[in-house]
Amino acid sequence: MSDPDFVVVANRLPVDLDRSPDGGQRWTQSPGGLVSALEPFLRSRKGAWVGWPGVPDIEVEEFTDDGLVLHPVSLSAAEVRDYYEGFSNATLWPLYHDVVQPPVFERRWWDAYVRVNQRFAEASAKVAAQGATVWVQDYQLQLVPSMLRELRPDLRIGFFLHIPFPPVELFMQLPWRAEIVRGLLGADLVGFHRPGGAQNFLWLAGQLIGLESSRGSVGVRSRSGIVRVGDRTVRVGAFPISIDSAGLDSLARSAEVTKRAAEVRASLGDPKTMLLGVDRLDYTKGIDLRLKALHELLREGTVDPAEVTFVQLATPSRERVEHYQRMRGDIERLVSRINGEFARVGHPVVHYLHQSVGRPELAAFYRAADVMVVTPLRDGMNLVCKEYVACKHDQTGALVLSEFAGAAAELTSAFLVNPHDLDGVKRTLHAAINLDPAEGRRRMRALRRQVLTHDVDRWARSFLDALDG
Ligand code: ADP
Ligand code: F6P
Repeated sequence: MSDPDFVVVANRLPVDLDRSPDGGQRWTQSPGGLVSALEPFLRSRKGAWVGWPGVPDIEVEEFTDDGLVLHPVSLSAAEVRDYYEGFSNATLWPLYHDVVQPPVFERRWWDAYVRVNQRFAEASAKVAAQGATVWVQDYQLQLVPSMLRELRPDLRIGFFLHIPFPPVELFMQLPWRAEIVRGLLGADLVGFHRPGGAQNFLWLAGQLIGLESSRGSVGVRSRSGIVRVGDRTVRVGAFPISIDSAGLDSLARSAEVTKRAAEVRASLGDPKTMLLGVDRLDYTKGIDLRLKALHELLREGTVDPAEVTFVQLATPSRERVEHYQRMRGDIERLVSRINGEFARVGHPVVHYLHQSVGRPELAAFYRAADVMVVTPLRDGMNLVCKEYVACKHDQTGALVLSEFAGAAAELTSAFLVNPHDLDGVKRTLHAAINLDPAEGRRRMRALRRQVLTHDVDRWARSFLDALDG
């Protein structure tokens, strides 16, 4: 097979190698929004994907899956600890999410981050055809653009950050701030979800690195800019990501999902109102806040436990990182406290599943839910809220959405809340539970118009068109 002229580079492959205790192994879909968004797009384009297979100390040969070339990069157990759990998820993740947990700065973790980024750059340099387009993804690989340019100046390199880019005051805490900005500037185009991220980055390129940078539209969308790096021009812009809206809309309409949605409601005892949360189990998602709000509403008698059921699906995530272990304990204590006080035998108020479910099952939960509760303290975009909207072709349902999710800028007909304001969350939940159906339809129609016309294909095309210049 000839070398691919389009290559995606991400920390994870779209599939994870799942090893069972009996020695068996199988590939399963990787967690998170990056894979949900990019996989359908890349499959239709038939490029190559460079990434880690999700388990340490394993060598896997390159293989082809339904026309997509998967090129595994292996990580040792120490690298998973220092580069992935350490620098990526205990330094950068909290720092970029408004320090909702304190970031940890460890020099050993940084060394591993540099080493692993170099390995990803070398793997990408080996895979890509002459003059190919290479699209590097997310915060785990911010040094790859400049490392790859060093190895392969013939390539066209794009970078997209799937999480928020922080305010300058927070970013400046990072001991390796200049190295990260220089790493990103190896790309021809650096993309963020929100214009604010692009502006913060432009400021850093100008003020921290001392390069000539200017704001203004140069082939990319508004609130964009350029940076001059020697004889190169780096474009910077905002590209809000989305989902495969039409695919999910049609899955949600299928007979199988329709039947399963009715079964879900029946197995919950046909509650008057079903609330739903769907998240990776992450402290940025505000799962504890929505549970606290529900707890207070129940205690005050504003919500009747015989009428309202809350289902929380939580994908296990980053389970060896301390922040995540503490948060899981807190959430599980809250769930059992609420059920301890308000459940009846056979009728818990909160159904908590620490599990990942398949796409059709997830679509059935979305269809079944009356109120979708999305309350992150900070989120780059949040695809879950868009997925909910895409599944509600009958225009029922209400979306409660945090102002601090990137999606809030587009989904203005949702019930927007400040998740830090517990009384505000309670009032909003109450309003969504008691929504007038005509008003609900009006809101959902507007939300669907936005989600169905702004899908992941449009996002990818707008980024790649800008990259083509
Ligand atoms: P993040 O990228 O931070 O995980 P997003 O909301 O952007 O957040 O994307 C999460 C993705 O993971 C969505 O596509 C969602 O459907 C999926 N997901 C989250 N929780 C579950 C779950 N319990 N089972 C299956 N898929 C899930
Ligand atoms: O952008 C969100 C993101 O961090 C992706 O980069 C990542 O693939 C996903 O969430 C899931 O996280 P993890 O790969 O750490 O399980």
